[in-house]
Amino acid sequence: MAVIAVYSSKGGVGKTTIAANLGWCSAQISLRRTLLWDLDPADGAGFMFALEPQRRRQARSLFAGDVPASTLIQQSSYPGLDLLPADTSLRELDSMLLRMGQRHRIATLSRQLVRCYDRLILDCPPMLNELSAQVMRAATLVIVPLPPSPLSARALDHVVEEIRRHTKRPPPILPVYSMMDRRRSLHQEALAANPAWPAIPMVSNLEQCAVQRRPIGTFAPRTPAALAFMRLWDGIERKLARIADAPELA
Ligand SMILES: Nc1ncnc2c1ncn2[C@@H]1O[C@H](COP(=O)(O)OP(=O)(O)OP(=O)(O)O)[C@@H](O)[C@H]1O
Ligand SMILES: [Mg+2]
Repeated sequence: MAVIAVYSSKGGVGKTTIAANLGWCSAQISLRRTLLWDLDPADGAGFMFALEPQRRRQARSLFAGDVPASTLIQQSSYPGLDLLPADTSLRELDSMLLRMGQRHRIATLSRQLVRCYDRLILDCPPMLNELSAQVMRAATLVIVPLPPSPLSARALDHVVEEIRRHTKRPPPILPVYSMMDRRRSLHQEALAANPAWPAIPMVSNLEQCAVQRRPIGTFAPRTPAALAFMRLWDGIERKLARIADAPELA
């Protein structure tokens, strides 16, 4: 069991696209019982899987312990993949967590959820706050999407610094170039600077995920982007295995 957070303090870098497609890879390729947990009030993950928007605004009640997760979890159209969708009530989640004073609330909820799921994938809002600190305390692995630019290494340093500040035992981090266009020299330079970082190409097929409201593997499975996600997922599985064997070395 593992908690994989897709996080960056920057907006629009591809977090939801990555979380949704990795969720699909986990359930459909690795046959893991997978829960995609959307912590962003924008409800991007639910939208990507064509769920009806939540009218009841109950997502926040889970954190107070007022409703069990089972009443909020919804099945996706894909076997093995469930969603814990967001709604606008999560706008007040950060202040609520601070008021509650339970620094490990998300970690506690994650431990309860992984009794039913092999993989928990968290789609996070672009914030540096109590919520992100709690996510870091809960995560087995943090995926940080970065557009390939000279600024990306700086953004990553920022995230790493924050994670260290908020956790006694920081989780391993996997940076991922999220919008790679190999025709651009700046992108090539970024890739050359960090050749081990996985890269997802910038292609219209991935924009189409939010139009067709389904993961790329379902409508363009043999394209470079779909294959890049399969490779990324495979790398994550191998990293999780190493973390399980020797957490101090991962
Ligand atoms: N590799 C890619 N190629 C082309 N378009 C992409 C790619 N990744 C993401 N996008 C597009 O970029 C936009 C932002 O992506 P996404 O919503 O996944 O980012 P985000 O980090 O979750 O944003 P937010 O911080 O607002 O939650 C979307 O329109 C998405 O379709
Ligand atoms: Mg998002």
